[in-house]
Amino acid sequence: MSAKLSVNINKIATIRNSRGGNTPNLIKVALDCERFGAQGITVHPRPDERHIRYKDVQELKPILSTEFNIEGNPKEQKFLDLVLENKPAQVTLVPDGLGQLTSDHGWDTISHKDYLKEIISVFKKAGIRTSIFVDAEVKMIEGALATGTDRIELYTESYAKNFFVNKEKAIAPFIIAAKKANELGLGINAGHDLSLQNLNYFAKNVEGLLEVSIGHALISDSLYFGLENTIQLYLRELKPHPSA
Ligand code: PXP
Repeated sequence: MSAKLSVNINKIATIRNSRGGNTPNLIKVALDCERFGAQGITVHPRPDERHIRYKDVQELKPILSTEFNIEGNPKEQKFLDLVLENKPAQVTLVPDGLGQLTSDHGWDTISHKDYLKEIISVFKKAGIRTSIFVDAEVKMIEGALATGTDRIELYTESYAKNFFVNKEKAIAPFIIAAKKANELGLGINAGHDLSLQNLNYFAKNVEGLLEVSIGHALISDSLYFGLENTIQLYLRELKPHPSA
């Protein structure tokens, strides 16, 4: 089974917001991503609503037919309320600060164990699958188990950065982290800076990978290839290549 592709549509909202109108239409893009084969839609609303707005989440929830994944920091009360009101298939908890450009670190699952455990039980009681954003470090994966989360999302920026330098070295910590997560029964998602260039090698080497969420590179590629083709290209990268 190939990992599922969840398209992060934050960038579409960024373009829309830059002109104040409704072009591109975020709802239409989300539905088109599904029509073109995406198996999920991811949004990451931030308190300043600089890309996804809270209202977008309310509009998306009833019309999506694939897995809806909402990412964010549950320490923001507005985020917490939004997720509980809209009940997506999955919530991904990310420890990003106010005004942060993009997520740049995973949870310290050891020092935040009690907090994560408490908040994860709130989401799980509401019937929402939970995933927590973590660096590819064995002790953070072990810590994740103690929080009660269903899944982890491996933060892949270091992999993407080092892929062109030495891909074997870049993937090594992710292979070890995935092995530990599989042993502990934690589901594995991954995201950040995954691209057409580095995705296949990642998917091929990370055992048990269930889902990737991809935004920046996929939306950028769609400027050249069109959204439909681009989604097909990413789906192809998630399958073993015939030559591999
Ligand atoms: N996962 C998390 C937790 C993120 O914050 C982001 C960026 O919003 C992504 C995945 C997707 O990263 P990218 O836009 O680089 O594909």
